[in-house]
Amino acid sequence: MSEIGVIHTEHIKKYYIMGDVEVRALNDITLDIYKGELAAIMGPSGSGKSTLMNILGCLDRPTGGIYKLGGELVSEMNDSQLADVRNRKIGFVFQSFNLLPRSTALENVLLPTLYSKKRANAKQRAINALEMVGLGARVNHKPKEMSGGQQQRVAIARALINDPEIIMADEPTGNLDSKSGKEIMELLIRLNKEQGKTIILVTHDPKIGKQVPRVISVFDGMLGSEEEQKELKRWTDVNYSKLDGLAGDKAALADDHPDKILDGKETPDNQAVKMEEKEAE
Ligand SMILES: Nc1ncnc2c1ncn2[C@@H]1O[C@H](COP(=O)(O)OP(=O)(O)OP(=O)(O)O)[C@@H](O)[C@H]1O
Ligand SMILES: [Mg+2]
Repeated sequence: MSEIGVIHTEHIKKYYIMGDVEVRALNDITLDIYKGELAAIMGPSGSGKSTLMNILGCLDRPTGGIYKLGGELVSEMNDSQLADVRNRKIGFVFQSFNLLPRSTALENVLLPTLYSKKRANAKQRAINALEMVGLGARVNHKPKEMSGGQQQRVAIARALINDPEIIMADEPTGNLDSKSGKEIMELLIRLNKEQGKTIILVTHDPKIGKQVPRVISVFDGMLGSEEEQKELKRWTDVNYSKLDGLAGDKAALADDHPDKILDGKETPDNQAVKMEEKEAE
């Protein structure tokens, strides 16, 4: 594909100054993501995935480089223009749901309509969005009266309320048990297939890498080459196909420790798992 993507970046950089030290969180990211794609951004902890996602999601601005979203040059926009584009084009889903604790599911889903020009039938649209994510019977529940998976589905309904073309999710299954995580992935895949939403998610889970058509790898603030990205995708496909149909203990083991079941092969992802385990110690 050579035409320009709905997401198009050229040489994006993001540097943070910490005292005397410059932290180069992103170095030269040139990337196209096309309308209707479902892509997973993967890479070790600290590699720049969230930084990239926050820039793509118009929550933050790059230090340098070009970012065009749907043809609009967002890298040159001021804060209020950026907020406007975000409201029109993007629904964002966070790892920790970010729901208002004292508001009901319905009130949480309605929140983005307060900042939007699309206010007509807001309540009915919110109810429809909650029904679409399977929570038609939970509209008046508050977050603490729902499971983690249900809370994340409320967050997805909130991301859908203004009918954005793009859904972005930073580790949407990271705080969920594997069954709820699987349901959230099924929901995102359905939104991509049935409604044609462009979906970009960050994940540490190689099983998700297998479920999506495209994997975008990030290391030290840089993308892997096209060949490296395809290699990573092939790796998740082959290794996680081996797990299909395996029930019980072995699959559960793989859930927690993919590297233990996959011949100890050193891959970017089990490196990430190991780094996380090290950090947790
Ligand atoms: N606000 C900030 N100020 C300074 N440094 C930052 C800031 N945000 C991120 N960084 C640094 O930028 C780098 C990339 O961070 P980022 O959060 O994007 O990583 P990540 O790939 O999302 O990691 P994880 O998998 O742990 O979520 C890290 O070295 C981090 O310490
Ligand atoms: Mg992150």
